[in-house]
Amino acid sequence: MDLVINNGKVVTPQGVFQANIGIEGEKIATISRSPLKGDEVIDASGKLVMPGVIDPHVHMELPFGGTVSADDFKTGTIAGAFGGVTTIIDFAIQPNGESPFSAIEARKKAAERKVVVDFALHASLTDMEKVEDGDIRKIIEMGLPSFKLFMTYRKEGLMVDDGTLFALLQETASLKGLVGVHAENAAVLEYLITKFLREGRTEPKYHALSRPNFVEGECINRAITLTEEANSSLYIFHMSTKEGLEAVKSAKTRGVNVLAETCPHYLMLTDEKYEENGQLYVMSPPLRKREDNEALWQGVINGWIDVVSTDHCPFRTDQKAMGDTFDKIPNGVPGIETLLPVMFSEGLKRGMTPERLVEVLSYNPARIFGLESKGAIEVGKDADIVILDPREERTLSYETLHMNLDYSIFEGLKVKGYPVTTISRGEVIVDNNEFYGKEGRGRFIERVSGGW
Ligand code: URP
Ligand code: ZN
Repeated sequence: MDLVINNGKVVTPQGVFQANIGIEGEKIATISRSPLKGDEVIDASGKLVMPGVIDPHVHMELPFGGTVSADDFKTGTIAGAFGGVTTIIDFAIQPNGESPFSAIEARKKAAERKVVVDFALHASLTDMEKVEDGDIRKIIEMGLPSFKLFMTYRKEGLMVDDGTLFALLQETASLKGLVGVHAENAAVLEYLITKFLREGRTEPKYHALSRPNFVEGECINRAITLTEEANSSLYIFHMSTKEGLEAVKSAKTRGVNVLAETCPHYLMLTDEKYEENGQLYVMSPPLRKREDNEALWQGVINGWIDVVSTDHCPFRTDQKAMGDTFDKIPNGVPGIETLLPVMFSEGLKRGMTPERLVEVLSYNPARIFGLESKGAIEVGKDADIVILDPREERTLSYETLHMNLDYSIFEGLKVKGYPVTTISRGEVIVDNNEFYGKEGRGRFIERVSGGW
């Protein structure tokens, strides 16, 4: 074997068991009861050996609100690797007036030069005038079987209407593609933004007040209705409310294939954050109440929520300060590096099992998004592995994290359990707080459709 991991506790969705893993080249070659011999040997005694984390919702170097998100494909994936992330899915967002293919090629090229872990892309469609017959099939065949439609962000030129959503749901139903949505009722939130600005209410807290829970709840319900009528499948990005969760539960119970994602900030933080330095917490949808946090935690633990991602879209404090009124603050927060430590530490405290953790962080994103060679510790899969020390205690701080930022939304949070070694396709890229990977070593992964 080229590399072996001996004496660790291997975590799978089905159970946790003592085992030894042998890696040959880029693949897991054997899983054995007895310790293995290899050119390189890692002793994982007392540690958990888990599939590498897949973060299916990140926005590296994204132009937004007159600036660009602060992590590029290099800094963002290095930070991810320190947090046990071995695959990301970013977005190829179609510029208005252009075909979706130019965005796909450009985004692929930008990422390929810089990523230190593997990546894939969702196709984000914004201008159906430029999408021709047969293009959706072509995009799926190019290895991008998932789409993102924005049901808001009109002035940013990203929003599509309900007719576009319904048409894409119908087309993907027959082609086995998956439509995902950013679900917020645009007309209502735009009305509230205009009203608050007219009244001179411009502070960051009005970002949240202009997007109350029902703005998301109504939109998720609408998207589900369209999905049901189209006999299709739907993925809900970054769900933040108990109302959204209720809609998902009800749809799943009636047999609608709706899949839901939430993020650590919607589990851990509340709208109280908007009272001081609120601009640092402006993201869409916004932070909610403690009761939403608790409902979403139960959704994750009990299987209603399928995936926990980060929506990593960071802006430094100087970028956040560019918005002199709440509607001009660049939307988004960092998270890629803290996903696993926060979910392990806080999830287990609340009764989540390690089995469920790997399901929402690795197994489900691989299955739902068609990353065939990833997401599980099984013979034949890519050797994308994170070794986590459950005894390691850290206090999270931007000063010791690796994201290209001068703040952390989890500053001061004490976590127990931390990733100590990250292996990507058989190569140790992080070990003991050191990075050993190389810029551009990550690969574009063509995904398959229909895995959900
Ligand atoms: O505030 C957010 N979420 N920014 C990133 C873009 C998006 O909506 O996913
Ligand atoms: Zn979004």
